[in-house]
Amino acid sequence: MARGFFVTFEGLDGSGKSTQLRKLAQWLTAQGKQVTATRQPGGTRIGDRIRELLLDSRTENLAARTELGLMFSDRAQCIAEVIRPALERGEVVLCDRYTDSTEAYQGGGRQLGSEIVLELHRALCENLWPDLTILLLPDFERSLERARNRNARNVHNGRDENRFEQEDERFYRRVYDKYREIAAREPGRVVMIESDAGIEEVHRRVVEAVKARIGH
Ligand code: TMP
Repeated sequence: MARGFFVTFEGLDGSGKSTQLRKLAQWLTAQGKQVTATRQPGGTRIGDRIRELLLDSRTENLAARTELGLMFSDRAQCIAEVIRPALERGEVVLCDRYTDSTEAYQGGGRQLGSEIVLELHRALCENLWPDLTILLLPDFERSLERARNRNARNVHNGRDENRFEQEDERFYRRVYDKYREIAAREPGRVVMIESDAGIEEVHRRVVEAVKARIGH
């Protein structure tokens, strides 16, 4: 069975990953590739409902393990409905966040640890790992500032997706440290771009990483 190529984007809120995903999708399309772009949580109708529950700041008293389970419920649905079929069609799948986010946020941020996350991944996600993960990790202070600006914008637009963005700096520090731990553990899969070099320069590095793996 022909299998496509699976790329995920990771980073703290405000790291610029959604912009980079969009730019990579445009670049790949211009190269004649079929691209499917999705995101987690969300990306399916069921996932959008789960996303609303997870991100709405009016959601109160959500236990850490419930949050963990919902992230994986969303992911299992996205794999079944979007990711797996697109890979089987031989497409390039770009996903905004994946299991590394769960390891960083629930494993690190919520302090549930990595083991439970990796176990659930094996059980619920058919142990499907990306061929390449782009981890955008600019300077920690800069990331926080961008997340706060985005938070303000979301309130302004009448959207409420702020439950995570209300977490304190220590939470984000644990997320940041866990991301670095993942990158050190999996250097073959994870390409970390630390640069604050600007959108175009980061895009150039993303394209370089993709080219090195899919060959052009
Ligand atoms: P987004 O704004 O990049 O779509 O991400 C939504 C929020 O959900 C973000 O704060 C990170 C959080 N998140 C987790 O905590 N665990 C996960 O597994 C995923 C996919 C997202």
